[in-house]
Amino acid sequence: MPEKLYFEPQALGSLNTFGIAIKAQQFAALTDPEQLVVARETLGETAPFFLGGGSNILFTRDPEEPLLGIRWKGIEASVEGDEVLVHVAAGENWHHFTQYCVERAWGGVENLSLIPGQVGTAPVQNIGAYGVELKDVLTYVDVFDWLSGQFTRLDNADCALGYRDSIFKGKNKGRYVITAVGMRLSKRSSLHTHYGAIQQELERMGKLENPSYADVAQAVIAIRKSKLPDPAFIGNAGSFFKNPVVDVELAKALLEEHPDAPHYPAGNNQVKLAAGWLIEKAGWKGHRRVNHGVHEKQALVLVNYGGATGSQILQLAEDIQDSILQQFGIALEMEVNIYR
Ligand code: EPU
Repeated sequence: MPEKLYFEPQALGSLNTFGIAIKAQQFAALTDPEQLVVARETLGETAPFFLGGGSNILFTRDPEEPLLGIRWKGIEASVEGDEVLVHVAAGENWHHFTQYCVERAWGGVENLSLIPGQVGTAPVQNIGAYGVELKDVLTYVDVFDWLSGQFTRLDNADCALGYRDSIFKGKNKGRYVITAVGMRLSKRSSLHTHYGAIQQELERMGKLENPSYADVAQAVIAIRKSKLPDPAFIGNAGSFFKNPVVDVELAKALLEEHPDAPHYPAGNNQVKLAAGWLIEKAGWKGHRRVNHGVHEKQALVLVNYGGATGSQILQLAEDIQDSILQQFGIALEMEVNIYR
């Protein structure tokens, strides 16, 4: 067992994709999940804050509690006929993992290419894109329960994965530290090419007939690059808000006034609306406040052009929420975690 943990001050600007220049007084990078046991013993009653890829968080101030960086790595795979069972360490980069699979012609995560963040944070919001969610391939999540100090395995159903939702949010936040994720991929997994512009992109690539997993990944990457800002150049955390799920009556009223509003049935007499469309309709797309604003190609994404504080970005997000509530009677929920 690793013996001791060393905490040091750490600038966090490059450790959060929004690029907010804050600093932790106590930071330790963990390169082995066994160090969680040491961390728990060392910290006693002090609850730490865990930092993965920093791609779904907006820091509005310097964190006061000790910060633990999740850095352990490793991909293990066992092939059984057409099935591939993978066990991936929480600190692996998600996009790197998707490309590892695509290169080996293992299907299942190609539509999730280029999503920022680490494998261990993927279950927290059940990442999803272009008609596929992590839920579709996830078999288990290995966790360290900070409450009991035990390592346990949760299966897919235990995780209650929903639209950008799971048991790792809300009341359990901070309790389970995800150490590894198990997924079931397949050499014969069916392709999901009907969502959005994938077909169009495959056609442009000359790969519409019989595309491979790698072709679909390439199409998804091209679409994402055309719409979403690259955090390496413009600070952002992807979609800032969730797409709202509303009662069918509210959706009907909206559609009467705006027949062009994108809408998707969500079961239980509910309809999912496109937050990006609502924000654009309310006039926010491309809105800029000196060093931060609303992305000009995708209104769901708030951006830090450089030097913005988390509070400034949060203020913009709240102004957008107020405006959408006033204009459409719809409450937008933030998808990004706010560190207040
Ligand atoms: N739309 C607009 N204006 C905008 C943005 C979108 O009118 O500025 C319209 C689009 O034309 C389309 C509809 O809204 O009719 C939906 O847009 P899109 O298909 O681009 O997806 P989204 O709802 O904006 C969601 C996810 C993305 C994911 C894409 C593709 C959420 C909160 N976001 O975005 O996830 O990549 O679908 O599957 O569910 C993320 O979570 O960080 C993220 C980027």
